[in-house]
Amino acid sequence: MPNDSRHPFLQGLSKHRGAQPTIITIFGASGDLCARKLVPAIYNLAVDNLLPADFYLIGFGRKPIPDEEFRSLASEAISKFSRRELNRDIWDRIEKNAFYCSGGYDEVEAFQKLRDKVDSIEKDLGREIQSVFYVSTPPSVFEPIIKNLGEVGLAKRHQDGDRHTKVVIEKPFGKDLESARHLNRVISGVFQERQVYRIDHYLGKETVQDLLVQRFANTIFEPLWNRNYVDNVQITVAESLGVGTRGGYYEQSGATRDMIQNHTMQLLALTAMEPPASLDAEAIRDEKVKLLKAIKPLRLGYSNSDVVRAQYAEGLIDGQKVDGYREEEGVSEESNTETYAALRLAINNWRWEGVPFYLRSGKRMARRVTEIAIQFKRPPSSLFSENEMINLASNSLVFQIQPDEGSTILLNGKIPGLQTRTQPVKMHFRYSTTFGSNTPEAYERLVLDAMIGDGTLFIRGDETEASWGLITPLHEFWQSEGQRGMESYAAGSWGPNASDRMLWQGEHEWRRP
Ligand code: BG6
Repeated sequence: MPNDSRHPFLQGLSKHRGAQPTIITIFGASGDLCARKLVPAIYNLAVDNLLPADFYLIGFGRKPIPDEEFRSLASEAISKFSRRELNRDIWDRIEKNAFYCSGGYDEVEAFQKLRDKVDSIEKDLGREIQSVFYVSTPPSVFEPIIKNLGEVGLAKRHQDGDRHTKVVIEKPFGKDLESARHLNRVISGVFQERQVYRIDHYLGKETVQDLLVQRFANTIFEPLWNRNYVDNVQITVAESLGVGTRGGYYEQSGATRDMIQNHTMQLLALTAMEPPASLDAEAIRDEKVKLLKAIKPLRLGYSNSDVVRAQYAEGLIDGQKVDGYREEEGVSEESNTETYAALRLAINNWRWEGVPFYLRSGKRMARRVTEIAIQFKRPPSSLFSENEMINLASNSLVFQIQPDEGSTILLNGKIPGLQTRTQPVKMHFRYSTTFGSNTPEAYERLVLDAMIGDGTLFIRGDETEASWGLITPLHEFWQSEGQRGMESYAAGSWGPNASDRMLWQGEHEWRRP
């Protein structure tokens, strides 16, 4: 197809950020993630002129669906879930290149049909085109999908195929260290590591990326970012939602697998890592791995333990009574699955020796909030009277990842008047005030980065293993203990008392965001 015959919209697209002509194949195309996040992300990239001129979408799933039905399901998904309204002109141009392939994930013939489809697109186009395979299925079929892509030659199709073909893999990446290692081995039998994009959607969030900018594009923080000035760090990933209809999945997962091992540990790594030598994907991931490996093994047991686990009991969310976890659909009445976990981590390096990092994540907590709080040491007491010292707060710097994206610094200020009286005051930076509120969704950035081959915001194989290496002994311990040590908290609260007690041991207190 000669370039100048394209619609001006399409002509403009491939100039941006160098995305090559691409076929994205989504495995799990009739699933929830595809409808809620992936198709809307692709559509919004089109709205922003960020898709390559030659862009094709193939849905792959077990259910047989004609191309026409896949297209209308996709446009319905955009109307329902996209942050911007469906513009028919823009969608029509993607839709005409959208197709559907059906088949079992373990059937080689189905992958052969997929390969035929890819071949026929290239034949019509008259040239080779990169393929991005997006695996958004349940984890039980990750392995056959990867193997079958290799089997039918889709993983390394062209002479320089490892640069032209990419595989994006959704979470959960394994359920423990052993299964993550196994999956890494399966993948590396078919793909080169630089072709692999392991998703952690938190890395695509604007505010998480901003963390690197705040740390390394400002001079005022870095000199304080160490054991001399930081007293403790608190990372909270709280949700007010319960498990909803995902009880079956969640029973096998729990808060540590679902949120701590991946999202929360990533926030920790970005907060605590050393400055990378460059913004190159490998440089950043090297630093994250170094940091994850420097975390001391958790102390498990019943005195001075570094972990607390709990389940939500019934309670009130927004004034409405909600069920406890064990009453949820798909959850066993005797479930041992934690819906809340808090960890106290110690990092064994010069920068952080002696500084506790507290992590917590839970469902059905008082509010939906994700934040990273750097709590600084208290000022020396010499200048202010005893009474004033009581009002003197420790400084803190809080990154609000979501909602109300931004950051806040807590300082001590003088109350106007003839006396010298102090009060903690806040300096706020709000994304919505400064930049407006319609920021791209995490998946938009991640889909685009996979297309252009930038792995910075994806997890490397050794990184996921380092993180599982910390969490797996904890699961083994909990499994051996059964119900013992499982705490309870009321839905709508900030978690169990045992978690507060863990912080009191270090004379700290959880923030109430
Ligand atoms: C997912 C978890 O990875 O992240 C869910 O599986 C959780 O249980 C979700 O609700 C939270 O994501 P976000 O972007 O809404 O904070």
